[in-house]
Amino acid sequence: MKRTFLITGASKGIGLALAHRLATRGHTVIGIARNPTDAFPGPLHTLDLSERSANGELARIVKESNVDGVVNNVGLVRAAPLGDIAIETLEEVMRVNLHPALMSIQSALPGMRTRGWGRIVNISSLTVLGSVQRTSYAAAKAALVSFTRSWALELAQTGITVNAVSPGPTETELFRANNPIGSEGEARYLSGVPMGRFGQPDELAAAIEFLLSDDAAFITGQTLHVDGGASIGRSSL
Ligand SMILES: NC(=O)c1ccc[n+]([C@@H]2O[C@H](COP(=O)([O-])OP(=O)(O)OC[C@H]3O[C@@H](n4cnc5c(N)ncnc54)[C@H](OP(=O)(O)O)[C@@H]3O)[C@@H](O)[C@H]2O)c1
Repeated sequence: MKRTFLITGASKGIGLALAHRLATRGHTVIGIARNPTDAFPGPLHTLDLSERSANGELARIVKESNVDGVVNNVGLVRAAPLGDIAIETLEEVMRVNLHPALMSIQSALPGMRTRGWGRIVNISSLTVLGSVQRTSYAAAKAALVSFTRSWALELAQTGITVNAVSPGPTETELFRANNPIGSEGEARYLSGVPMGRFGQPDELAAAIEFLLSDDAAFITGQTLHVDGGASIGRSSL
């Protein structure tokens, strides 16, 4: 069955890798990003989801596109140590990570309910388990896990599933902007991954694609950590 999926933050990294996977299977993909690119395999709407006013436009696009699934992938990181976190930063990070997620699924819901089928995947982060300099970001990503569990319960009998994917350090532009090659951050993240390497965008996309599939129909409310074992923690053995 061919479906229509909307991905926020779709022009690079994990979102773009997912778009290519879905398009290869014959699904229609609709993307949202700030800048246009020819690399996206479908209609890409240019919207800055950090602008409050963009949420209305996002809601309109979701509704008009009759989407079967939504991947809430857009994210914003503002790294800062405790002691240096402005309330405005906390608010901005919460807004960008959470408002588009809520707006997009609320707009998608009526159509999904009518069809009795829907898929929602929220992209969280390994940092929800605790991370230095990520107070705002980790809190926002933890809220996405909470959204996932609450929405899964409310929608459990509708044919709509809601799950989260929690990436560990994955080699994308966002990751490299915050952790340049040779940086202390890169070394710290690498030391926390038992597999001893960073994830690739397509490895995250593979997990998200599965949760969007018919085969994943009995899975809801779950958070799948895709992180080379980083969420297990270190054994002292
Ligand atoms: N990479 C990691 O290590 C990692 C780890 C844990 C969680 N995550 C999460 O995974 C998700 C994807 O991250 P990624 O690493 O794939 O990011 P990425 O490579 O930097 O790509 C981000 C995408 O989002 C778009 N975007 C950014 N800000 C936007 C805005 N305000 N409005 C609309 N579009 C916007 C970007 O396009 P434009 O620049 O053109 O807008 C781009 O398409 C995020 O939620 C992130 O928090 C990533």
